[in-house]
Amino acid sequence: MPMSQENNNEHVKMIAKTIYGLEPILVKELEELGASNIEAQNRVVTFEGDIALLYKANISLRTASRILVPLSTFTIASKDDYYENIRDINWMDLFSNDETFAIDALVNFSRVFDNSMYAGQLAKDAIVDQFRAETGARPSVDTEDPDIQINIHVNKNVITVSLDSSGVPLHKRGYRVELSKAPMNENLAAGLLLIAGYDGNQPLLDPMCGSGTIPIEAAMIALDMAPSLYRKHFAFMYWNNFDEELYESVRDDLKSKVRKELKFPIVGSDKDKYVIDKAKNNAHRVHLKDTIIFERIRFEDQFPPEENGMLICNPPYGERLDIKAIDSLYSMIGDTLKQNFDGYDAYIFSGNLEAVKYVGLKPSMKRKMFNGPIECRFLHYEMYKGSKKRIHE
Ligand SMILES: C[S@@+](CC[C@H](N)C(=O)[O-])C[C@H]1O[C@@H](n2cnc3c(N)ncnc32)[C@H](O)[C@@H]1O
Repeated sequence: MPMSQENNNEHVKMIAKTIYGLEPILVKELEELGASNIEAQNRVVTFEGDIALLYKANISLRTASRILVPLSTFTIASKDDYYENIRDINWMDLFSNDETFAIDALVNFSRVFDNSMYAGQLAKDAIVDQFRAETGARPSVDTEDPDIQINIHVNKNVITVSLDSSGVPLHKRGYRVELSKAPMNENLAAGLLLIAGYDGNQPLLDPMCGSGTIPIEAAMIALDMAPSLYRKHFAFMYWNNFDEELYESVRDDLKSKVRKELKFPIVGSDKDKYVIDKAKNNAHRVHLKDTIIFERIRFEDQFPPEENGMLICNPPYGERLDIKAIDSLYSMIGDTLKQNFDGYDAYIFSGNLEAVKYVGLKPSMKRKMFNGPIECRFLHYEMYKGSKKRIHE
């Protein structure tokens, strides 16, 4: 672990970053992993644990996008304060001259900095100057594929300098090499399933599955498969104190928990044959090709795989369709749910807030969320007998 003012191997403060709206789900995930002092804020959850938890959190968290380890928090009144405080961190304990590094700086409401880029450059100078003064040489910057990623958050006059323990964001699980036109991030798909209460004890259908993100994340949840179990690189592996034996034992333990078979079917379908082939290939990369049923069929012709299950779908938002076509698509979704999905908990995630009205059913839950910059709604329709009255009838 980065030895710092705030951490040692037994006690590590950590910050998990996530998407707006998934903070409560991430808190639950961290509780299940045994983290302590868990606290949710806007798009981040802070928590504490030991170094094994840092490894486990990186491999297991479904809704986090990265995990940071704060090295130092301080207040500044000037650029000189900023430089001195960063130079005072013992960087040579953390990495060496032959490793590359990159800085990701974010400035919010600062009187000292008017842009994030300058804050990043000055931090780089402070780090490089420390190495130069001590060794006569300096580590190189590599913004594409750095060994060590440093994260700096400037919020008013409070600076938090952290090491990024993940590297490539955790939602990039590695299985989704082949994309459909508008894929959703893997941690968003997992978050929707967990908000819906999906746990593998019910059949699941995504009738507009595109590249298969929702069915693949569902299979991982149902089989208790940690989402980054097969990932080869995390940034913490490049830290001076990386404990490979401990990491292997954490990963082996998680591997041994993976169930072999689903209790209930998971089906992904789409009208487009091309994307169904992609979804199959993506599932294959995480050894789930034979676990999930992928089929080419239009939603309007689709039926439940089994009685009383869950349906989650992420229809097109309509950027490429005219208004009439998008309204009739959403209207078709409502009709199909009503006619074919009695006994189902149906969920729709959409960024077209007008079109969802054409589903024509009364949602029992409506949650504001985001897909990247697009404001979305996650809607729940309970398709049980007697609750299917159409709003517009
Ligand atoms: C927004 S994309 C889904 C993306 C998916 N969640 C992913 O992560 O890749 C919407 C999908 O709906 C499919 N679609 C559109 N109309 C359909 C219909 N009538 N029946 C089945 N699929 C349809 C499209 O082919 C497209 O793949």
